[in-house]
Amino acid sequence: MTLRERIQQEIHERGPIPFSQYMEMCLYDPDLGYYSRDVERFGKAGDFYTSSDVHAVFGRLLARQFEEIWRVLGSPGQIEILELGPGRGLFARDLLDWSEKKFPGFFRALHYSLLEKSTALQRRLQANLERHFIAGKTSLSPEGLKHHISRGPYGMAEAMPLANLPAATEKDVTSVVPSGDGPGIFSRERALAREIPVIIFANEFFDALPVEVLSPRGELRIGIKDGRFVETWAPASSDEMEFLDRYSVQPEDGERVEVPLLAQRYMAKMGTALTQGIIIVVDYGYTREETLAGRHRGTLMAFRQHSVSASPYEAPGDQDITAHVNFTALTAAAEQDGMQVQPLLTQSQFLMGIGEQNQFADAFEDCRLLQETAKVALQLKHLVTPAGMGEAFHVLVCSKGIDPAKVVGLSGLSFSKCRI
Ligand SMILES: C[S@@+](CC[C@H](N)C(=O)[O-])C[C@H]1O[C@@H](n2cnc3c(N)ncnc32)[C@H](O)[C@@H]1O
Repeated sequence: MTLRERIQQEIHERGPIPFSQYMEMCLYDPDLGYYSRDVERFGKAGDFYTSSDVHAVFGRLLARQFEEIWRVLGSPGQIEILELGPGRGLFARDLLDWSEKKFPGFFRALHYSLLEKSTALQRRLQANLERHFIAGKTSLSPEGLKHHISRGPYGMAEAMPLANLPAATEKDVTSVVPSGDGPGIFSRERALAREIPVIIFANEFFDALPVEVLSPRGELRIGIKDGRFVETWAPASSDEMEFLDRYSVQPEDGERVEVPLLAQRYMAKMGTALTQGIIIVVDYGYTREETLAGRHRGTLMAFRQHSVSASPYEAPGDQDITAHVNFTALTAAAEQDGMQVQPLLTQSQFLMGIGEQNQFADAFEDCRLLQETAKVALQLKHLVTPAGMGEAFHVLVCSKGIDPAKVVGLSGLSFSKCRI
């Protein structure tokens, strides 16, 4: 059975499905989903590349920053890095190798946990980080961050007070919601005890989470007509309407906006579970101000072979589907349970802050020839300049249980301040 047939079967059995469920199946169906199949998705040979594909300097600079965080925490005997959605593990490998070479004290204290949902990618992580697995430096959570498909009127129903439920005339539908509302989530995923300080790192993780899509007609559902996927609309839930009011805009005629409820829940859960630590999110995205100014309304995109594909309904399972991150909403979710959130930075500001002190020596260390130096300079430029990934990507830094003055003093947060 193809993935298209599997999705069609689901729709035949249950009626039109929320877009979040369609996106979940396209990306993460355990056998046929985009990330589940053993096909190269990253780098030149795949559909997109991330910062770690550009050059190891991304991981090396972050190793420098994480070591500084460890010192700010008083150089504890143990610290955990928990990476969300590590993909093939290039970042983890660059960070671990550089820490081992340059920051032995930090490396000794470090345990690196990988939280990857795709079993195909878990196998690649094991191969790419074999040395660190054998040494016990690295471990893999058996499953990714968990959510389940819930069944109930209007999908998000169990999150809503009963009184807020729209009249239940609609057929039961399914929707993607995180499981484990108890304190388990984000403590069960960690390898070390909850009291041990943790750095949670997520590069291009939140943009890959399923979203709902809203228009003035309501919440998008996917149905079938004459064997083809068709868009239908159902009344939006109160959670979705509240999200639009607080963090986005009410879409106007012809507009669509995404509602990333799953990202919100994950961030809020992390904040609750964190005792002492930092969360660093690197992703492409926007703020509410930008949406109000008329930008970034409808950021859902499908990618195939480095080109934007015309429709998310073409070739399910063979193309990536992604939505920009709403950083205003993510900040609010982090603050919900007492995390301190720093003003949003661009990737450029963050990397410049870390690298400028030693003039990016981390990038050039292996260069022997002038041509190599020139090539690495171009790769670094791509990571840092607005024309490359420097402005489109943003960095959100959240902390809990750490003196805020010390967080503000981190080198990654310092470049933007001295230029304002
Ligand atoms: C766009 S890729 C980014 C990969 C990597 N961070 C990088 O920069 O190359 C998103 C990754 O998140 C993983 N992922 C998505 N949802 C997840 C979840 N709930 N738990 C764990 N991993 C997840 C995907 O399988 C995929 O590896």
